[in-house]
Amino acid sequence: MSVCLFNVILQCKIYTVNNVNQISDASLLLAIESSCDDTSAAVLKGNKVLSNCVATQSVHEQYGGVVPELASREHQKNIIPVVHAALAEAKVDKSALQAIAYTRGPGLLGSLHVGAAFAKSLAMGLSIPMIEVHHMHAHILAHFIDDGSPIPTDPFLCLTVSGGHTQLVLVESATSMQVIGNTLDDAAGEAFDKIAKIMGLPYPGGPLIDQYAAKGDPQKFTFPKSNMEALDFSFSGLKTAVLYFLKKEMAKDSNFIADNLADLSASVQYTIVEVLMKKVALAVEQTGVKGIALAGGVSANSALRKAVSVFAEEHGLASYIPAFEYCTDNAAMIGIAGQFRFAANDFGSLENAPSARLPF
Ligand code: KG4
Ligand code: ZN
Repeated sequence: MSVCLFNVILQCKIYTVNNVNQISDASLLLAIESSCDDTSAAVLKGNKVLSNCVATQSVHEQYGGVVPELASREHQKNIIPVVHAALAEAKVDKSALQAIAYTRGPGLLGSLHVGAAFAKSLAMGLSIPMIEVHHMHAHILAHFIDDGSPIPTDPFLCLTVSGGHTQLVLVESATSMQVIGNTLDDAAGEAFDKIAKIMGLPYPGGPLIDQYAAKGDPQKFTFPKSNMEALDFSFSGLKTAVLYFLKKEMAKDSNFIADNLADLSASVQYTIVEVLMKKVALAVEQTGVKGIALAGGVSANSALRKAVSVFAEEHGLASYIPAFEYCTDNAAMIGIAGQFRFAANDFGSLENAPSARLPF
């Protein structure tokens, strides 16, 4: 019942403010993001970012993945200094803020609670409204930040690739989006990280695979490319294939991974990008969109950025590749999503709890 209500509310607002020009240049928001292992705060004036501070948690490196309980405790330590830093960098006093936007979900429940509790308390203390933001909407809406790069005007396709999600989203407007493809198991970022872990690299391994791949041969090793029905993805088979391949090779030569790190990285990266791009091509054909965008942490991947740009150029499409600072988790994207809702007077409620699986 609550899910339906949420959707109804969302659809009512959808047609109210869907154009970036409807955001007032003067509206000053603080935004907070704490859905996973980055604590971030940003200040936005209209669709311009005045500050975007991120505290990354290195505590997880030794565990090979994010440990939820440790993440919550790190958020508790980091949130006040990060918010102070964001206000100071923006040269904004908290008394000037008009609203506080925060990530309501999806994400790690304990982590979300820290950001939500902080946002609600500060909003109450300042007697200003709070705004609930969906993390995956925010990754996409980062394209509406005014940072000098082109802002989408027509409907576009967004490939949203992060540690927890891999989605193809048809973005009709800033507030009307439809998921048309999804991963059925691991997300692309999860595949990068899990394969990196198998290769003995620390968490998060995605950026390291990208770095090593720069000096490797993407055709050196052939790994299976999943081809799911319609616009869906699967990456768990790739992870298993790499695991068994490396077990076999390491039994023959214990230096195999170390001696082939660049080629292995390049081959894994090539396979993941090929799987993603095949579905992007199919989605473009099916939807007839005139632009494609990348969003989420994996959009920092150099091979994926290049593949999307080349594909767009070859097909006469506009391409929207986010600045690195807006690829991985950050509060600026929560801020721009918050601005759309602020302009529509779409405010949150103290009663609404964070949700680990907030519906899209
Ligand atoms: O969006 P994000 O910061 O957090 C989630 O919402 O999950 O994405 C983090 C993911 C991690 O899996 C990380 O390994 C991956 O993004 N990532 C990359 C690169 N930079 C970050 N994967 C491949 N290549 C990169 N350069
Ligand atoms: Zn994310």
